[in-house]
Amino acid sequence: MAHQTIHRHTRLSIFMHWFNAVCWFFLLLTGLGLIRNDALQVFPAWPLWMRSVFGSPETLLLSHETVGIIWAGGFLIYGILLFRQEVIPFIREILTVEIPRDSLWLITKGIQMTLGYPALEKIAEKFGFDSRIPDQGFYNVGQKLFAIPSILGGVVIALTGFIMILSQYGTVAAELVQWSIVIHFITVGLVFAGLLIHIFMAAIAKGEQPALISMFTGTVPEDYAHHHHKLWLDEIRASDAAETSPAQGNG
Ligand code: HEM
Repeated sequence: MAHQTIHRHTRLSIFMHWFNAVCWFFLLLTGLGLIRNDALQVFPAWPLWMRSVFGSPETLLLSHETVGIIWAGGFLIYGILLFRQEVIPFIREILTVEIPRDSLWLITKGIQMTLGYPALEKIAEKFGFDSRIPDQGFYNVGQKLFAIPSILGGVVIALTGFIMILSQYGTVAAELVQWSIVIHFITVGLVFAGLLIHIFMAAIAKGEQPALISMFTGTVPEDYAHHHHKLWLDEIRASDAAETSPAQGNG
């Protein structure tokens, strides 16, 4: 039973996730190289280094824009072609939140991850709440809290980037371009802050390795699904039971 695997991600959604991750890191590194204001530069030598790697500032900018268009274009095509099969179920899943249960999940999971189970029990007893971490669905509420802004942020980054590209052809009002630059920069910073937590939670945190492996294999062990996403596993079991019971009745 514990060794049984459960299907979690389609091949295409895995491909889109890693396509997104590779594009993001490329855009982040080249984008940092495009910042000319030293006051905003975390590593002052970075722009010079990036320009020398790409040969010239023009090639660096062109590479950033080209990958940005491939990234946004890839998601636009994916979104249009798989709107019903993948986009709608994903959006519905990340927008489904049950506030009392999910707030308690954030509190209990936060304490358990930072201070451990014994501290969680003591704190819960002191403040009078249940120390059991509430069950979660396909995504836990922490994942949803990253997924929603990262998608909205992605749309904002793509639109402001597009405005900046158009501005090179002199067709956009200067004020709109200036706002786009500021919004582009701030949105990348905000999504990046969430991304650090996402990478820690998905790839480094103890007990999360099956989720990382599932981003290559598409499946998770049943015991992992039971422990981390019980409501989702219950749904799968219920639909399997519904599928098999009419057949049994006929047989
Ligand atoms: C090294 C980089 C990354 C790693 C190791 C990583 C890892 C993962 C893993 C393991 C999952 C599956 C979680 C599950 O099945 O429960 C996931 C899902 C997801 N990833 Fe990433 N990811 C990376 C980069 C990114 C980037 C750059 C973005 C977007 C800016 C992103 C956005 C998402 C979203 C929206 C999901 C679905 C919801 C969620 O699990 O938060 N990931 N990622």
